[in-house]
Amino acid sequence: MTAASHPVDTRLRHPFYLHDDGINRPAGPDKHWRYGRLAAESDPVVPIVREVAGELTPAYLICRHADVREVLRRQDVFSRAEAGSADPVDIAGTMLGMDGPEHAQARDSIEDFFTPAAVARLSDRIEAEAEARLAVLTARGGRADLIADFALPFALHTIGDLPADIQVKLPISLVVGGRETAASSIGTFFHVLHTRPYGDHPTAWAHLVAHPEQVDRAITELERLHSTGNADAMPRRVRADVRLPSGVSLRKGDIVVPSPDAANRDPRVFPDPERMDFGRDPNPHLSFGYGPHYCVGAHWGALQVRVALRLLLRELPGLRLAVPPEQVRWKAGQLILGPEALPVRW
Ligand code: HEM
Repeated sequence: MTAASHPVDTRLRHPFYLHDDGINRPAGPDKHWRYGRLAAESDPVVPIVREVAGELTPAYLICRHADVREVLRRQDVFSRAEAGSADPVDIAGTMLGMDGPEHAQARDSIEDFFTPAAVARLSDRIEAEAEARLAVLTARGGRADLIADFALPFALHTIGDLPADIQVKLPISLVVGGRETAASSIGTFFHVLHTRPYGDHPTAWAHLVAHPEQVDRAITELERLHSTGNADAMPRRVRADVRLPSGVSLRKGDIVVPSPDAANRDPRVFPDPERMDFGRDPNPHLSFGYGPHYCVGAHWGALQVRVALRLLLRELPGLRLAVPPEQVRWKAGQLILGPEALPVRW
């Protein structure tokens, strides 16, 4: 099977929450309904027109888990550096914009700081920081903004714990992104936990208050279904004709957009994929990417989110939204999903 060429005007416009003014505006914490549909469909690769800053680029959305992994794994065939026209971020000069040996060298120089063991050594400080922030939050009385008064300052201070020299080597946008992603994950997951039932409980939050031992797996499941990664921001250009595991052939020069949100709903890998299941095991979601560019901040970001939510569940089990959930406003833009503010009370 070949990914047939479709004229631009018959292709699906992407990202899916793009409005007429060219801005991507997710309406809430749910990923677009198309992702689940595309992952289950018989066509593993879907012709799209990728719209970035008003520019249109024909591309192929890669929807199956095995294919997405293959695209992200094989830097020799799928180049991020050469996919600039479909890329919502200017990655020139950053690690994401490098391929091959140059990338390996840049990555080597910082990777030791981010191993699970290195991150675990920071965990006491992360916990102390979360407790200090919680004390500030509760001192405000019974109402606050969980983002501005807790999640953002917490993430900002913990990023300060990373040695200064890594901050120089990391692309600054990703350091900022690292802070914003952790804070956004805390806010997004809080909203999701409070707005759906789970097991015998009226909310998934109440379920986790009763079952704190499930928090780690719950967060992995939330990363799968509600990752802060938005709009499939990892385009690659095909460097040589190639066949994907699904059997689809791609041609040299094609732009492909691997979709972690579709792959995370691939029923071949995740049975009953739309179901939020805190017992899901294994849970090989692709929200942090895969292969050579796999998110270096993954352990560290996930640890911050775990520490924050565990603490809130334990110390403020009655914490809840102070406004109807549909009144929460979500950040517009290509990259990071999350609430702008999250009024809460306890
Ligand atoms: C918690 C939410 C986060 C999500 C969902 C996330 C997601 C991702 C994804 C999908 C990639 C791969 C991009 C690609 O292959 O094109 C990536 C790469 C990267 N992330 Fe994250 N990330 C998160 C947090 C962080 C944090 C906290 C940091 C660190 C300070 C960080 C630093 C990086 C860096 C430096 C890369 C580039 C790695 C490379 O090119 O080798 N991220 N991230």
